[in-house]
Amino acid sequence: MSWNTFGRVLRFTTWGESHGPAIGAVVDGCPPGIALSEADIQPFLDARKPGQNKFTTQRKEPDAVRILSGVFKGETTGTPISLLIENTDQRSKDYSEIANTYRPGHADYAYDAKYGFRDYRGGGRSSARETAMRVAAGAVARKVIGEVRILAYVAEIGGDRIDPANFDRDEIARNPFWCPDAEAAKRWEKLVDDARKAGSSLGAVVECVATGVPPGWGAPVYAKLDSDLAGGMMSINAIKGVEIGDGFDAARLTGEQNADAMSPSENGPEFAANHAGGIAGGISTGQPVVCRVAFKPTSSILTPVASIDREGKATEVRTKGRHDPCVGIRGTPVVEAMMALVLADHKLLHRAQCG
Ligand SMILES: Cc1cc2nc3c(=O)[nH]c(=O)nc-3n(C[C@H](O)[C@H](O)[C@H](O)COP(=O)(O)O)c2cc1C
Repeated sequence: MSWNTFGRVLRFTTWGESHGPAIGAVVDGCPPGIALSEADIQPFLDARKPGQNKFTTQRKEPDAVRILSGVFKGETTGTPISLLIENTDQRSKDYSEIANTYRPGHADYAYDAKYGFRDYRGGGRSSARETAMRVAAGAVARKVIGEVRILAYVAEIGGDRIDPANFDRDEIARNPFWCPDAEAAKRWEKLVDDARKAGSSLGAVVECVATGVPPGWGAPVYAKLDSDLAGGMMSINAIKGVEIGDGFDAARLTGEQNADAMSPSENGPEFAANHAGGIAGGISTGQPVVCRVAFKPTSSILTPVASIDREGKATEVRTKGRHDPCVGIRGTPVVEAMMALVLADHKLLHRAQCG
């Protein structure tokens, strides 16, 4: 069984390969009566799409989305919403060299080991083309959680971190890195460009904050909001680590340091801190839900790396073609979408049980 579906009440399935004629998603379980059009989805796809600057892959995909079902007279009907994007910029010849060799760090060997056969063009199903459909499905999810605002930004590239003192929300959309620190963004221009020119790549840390999540979303044991968030985020290509709130840093604090002290106020409890990242016992507390993810450096690089071919013979792999020098940059809108999809599912789950 090849699992391509995520969610419990708001479920979405993605399909398609990098070099197939199209990719798509089916979002099922969306409540009826929500205003939805392609214009609600397209801006999020435009944020993720490749070829926008020299710090991302030079593939040119317009990623124009079409809604094929589930919407009538501008509103969701409660039936499955089918979303489709045509693939328009495939260059299969770029990948002919990796047909018989395995890019170390990529999915090539693992796919062959599992299936014995793989669509190597652009990485087939392992290509991050799939993440375009999560972004499209995420835009539908955002309509379900209109009360929530989600913001993701790149906090670190190649080990160079933003300075929290320079945090400027408006700066995020002003530079090509989704970076809230103008000084860091300036430094990253050279950092990422140097890596690209050297035939190398860099990793990144992306932070995502959801505000306006009311207390009560989540479940105590096997559908914890944090475990679903972690699972959802880890399902994004190239993410190798997820932290909720202080994450691993919490292990370095004492109980009193880590406590989010509470006091009464007219609008419910007030918290002195948010080490927990807005989730306790698997359930949202009403504080911002905070999640941090680690993107590994792109594995398709021009620098030769030792590998093997399909016959098991030693070889060297040097990946040509058009690749992102730092996948975390284009991964940022995908992280936002995944946050929206998990929260929307939990909103509907909460409503189903608690009204
Ligand atoms: C938005 C985005 C763009 C990506 N672009 C590339 C790319 O150009 N080249 C590449 O080798 N990997 C790229 N990746 C990562 C691969 O898809 C991923 O490393 C591969 O599928 C193996 O899966 P894993 O890293 O999760 O183990 C990208 C990932 C994301 C999220």
